[in-house]
Parts: sequence; structure tokens; C-alpha cells
Amino acid sequence: MKVLVTGGAGYIGSHTVVALREAGYEPIIVDDFRNSEKKVLEGIESLVGQVTCYELDCSRPVLEEVFRREKNIHAAIHFAAFKAVAESQEKPLDYYENNILSTITLLRCLLKYQVPYIVFSSSATVYGEPDTLPVTEESPRKPARSVYGRTKQVCEDIILDTLKSGAALRAILLRYFNPIGAHPSAKIGELPRGIPNNLVPFVTQTAAGWQKELVIFGRDYNTPDGTPIRDYIHVMDLAEAHVAALRYLERGGDKNIMNLGTGKGNSVLEIVKTFEEVCGVKLNYRFGERRPGDVEKIWADATLAEKELGFKAKRTLAEALLDAWKWQKTLTLNQAT
Ligand code: WQD
Repeated sequence: MKVLVTGGAGYIGSHTVVALREAGYEPIIVDDFRNSEKKVLEGIESLVGQVTCYELDCSRPVLEEVFRREKNIHAAIHFAAFKAVAESQEKPLDYYENNILSTITLLRCLLKYQVPYIVFSSSATVYGEPDTLPVTEESPRKPARSVYGRTKQVCEDIILDTLKSGAALRAILLRYFNPIGAHPSAKIGELPRGIPNNLVPFVTQTAAGWQKELVIFGRDYNTPDGTPIRDYIHVMDLAEAHVAALRYLERGGDKNIMNLGTGKGNSVLEIVKTFEEVCGVKLNYRFGERRPGDVEKIWADATLAEKELGFKAKRTLAEALLDAWKWQKTLTLNQAT
């Protein structure tokens, strides 16, 4: 069965394409490569064989071309979006246009071609600074602190309102906590553009000598070691959760929102220390100022996904950091050759 994967050459998208193939689906990638690289397709192919890929911007009407050519698309998983929080503040129009218009364009195609299922890539960022922890799917969404976060909230509402309008569509919005790590084969992984915004790729690049030092943004938070706490989930677990979410829709599941996290929080300093310990690498880091807009602490109540999807993250933080480091060493090796 054909599953359209927008942003399928991206970090989470590529790992999900592999998981879909291994689950017996036929993934079809749609990606414009503005925020991903073509070499990802080679990595995917080395793992699961050739995957059809349409190079196009899914926010444009040309997306319909895929539906005309590919008969009987069974479902869509919508990853395609810009996702850099700081950049979203500088380029709001690009973010609103790309992230929101791609969702509307995709939904119109799904309805027109009677595709019954959509899985949407949302984010725990919609919770802002939670009042109570762990956050459940009932926890209130807070006014987003970034344009990026606002685009995720708007896209969630667009999908939910489309369902409410009686459309012949079933949807699940997956709110990711912090995806980290890479495929254990080191054939695919995270490819940040330029200087990484996210913690773990910055850690691995510092360890590889690509960055001079890691700055830990603030150690005066109200947490045990003063650094912010997040719920870091292995990208392989996240990918497998998308297959579980699709199966849930297929069997008539009616919950529309699911947290995808481990249910455990770790501080920035714990990530650094765990990385040094499991990878046997001393990290050059210092403490700096807080990063504006950062949440102090957030981690998931992951029980709904376990109950409804039968999904529970099974890989440890150590595994994720090791896989991230293995991937970084491969990138470093390829850069040298
Ligand atoms: C984690 C912690 C930083 C870099 C964002 C988005 C979310 C998703 C993931 C898109 C924070 C600290 C980081 C560094 C640091 N985005 N940090 N030094 O901010 O939790 O989530 O990225 O898919 O939607 O909101 O992730 O990895 O940027 O930061 O100290 O060089 O690491 O302050 O406490 P974040 P992150």
C-alpha cells in the first residue's frame, strides 16, 4: 500500500520511510530538497532498496501531479516543513507560507483523491512552558513562543477543523518531544544545515571538532542541575511510532492527538555527561546565557500512545547518543574523503 511521505528526505521523514518499507508499505517520497539533501535517498536505498521520489514543493498545486500519477494512495504522512525556531523569527512569511500552505494543499489533494488517512508531524512546542508535568494530550496548548510553534498550532487546527467539517478523512497529530540519534547502520541520520540549532547535533559536531565548543544555554533554571530538561526520544522509536499510528487509523482509532516521547526527562548537562561517558569523548563546553524562548522543563506523559497505538519507546538515551556519534563519525569520514 502506497504511503505518501512529504519531507521524506528529511531527518524524521527518512527514518520513517525505512520503517514503512520494513512494515510492508510502499513509501513515496515528496521533497523539494530545500531543507534536505539528495544523498539521503542513497542512504535509504542502501537500507530498503529504491524508493520513488518526487522532487517538488508540496505547498504548490503541482503536488496534485503525484496523486494523478500514483493511483490508490493509501495514506499520507506530512513532515514537510521548515523547523528552525530562531530562523522562523527572521523569516515568518517563509514559515507561514511553507508550513501552512503545504498542509492545506496536501489536505485538498487527500480529499479530492479520497485518501483516507493522514499522520501529521506536530511538536511538543505547542505546549509552551507546561504548568504541570508530565504533559498529557489534555494539557493546554500555550501561545507559541515562536513563529515555528505557531505554524504547528495552526496546522493542527486546520486538520482538526477539516475533520469536524465531516471530511472523509481520519487523522492523527503526533506531538514529538525531542528526536535524537540516527539509524544504527549510520546510513541515514540528522543533517543540520549550517550551524546546528539542536543540542545533540551540536554535541556530536563539537566532539568531532566541527564546532569549537558547546555553549550550554543557561544553568540558572529551576532544575536539579540548573540546566533545562527535555524528553529525548530515539528517532528510530519515533519512526516506528508513525507506522503504529497508521495502523491505528486503519483499525478505526478515533483519538486525534498523541504525544511521542519516552516519558522521561533529562537535563542538558545529563546529555553532555552521558555522551562523554558512553562515547568516551571529552566535550569542550562552557555555560553561557539562557537562549530566549527556551522552555525550562518539559517531558511527556507517553501512556496514551502506549494504550492506543501499542507504542512505547524502547531505545535508551545511551543508544541514541551512541548512534548519533556513529553517524557523526561517518559524516566526518565522508567529509575527509
Ligand atoms: C534542547 C536544549 C537548549 C543547543 C526545538 C523545537 C522543537 C523541535 C526540536 C523541530 C535546550 C539546549 C541547545 C546548544 C544548548 N524542533 N541547547 N546549547 O529547543 O527543546 O526544541 O527543537 O523539530 O519543536 O522547539 O531543542 O535541541 O534546540 O534544545 O544548551 O547549542 O538544549 O537551550 O535547553 P528544543 P534543542
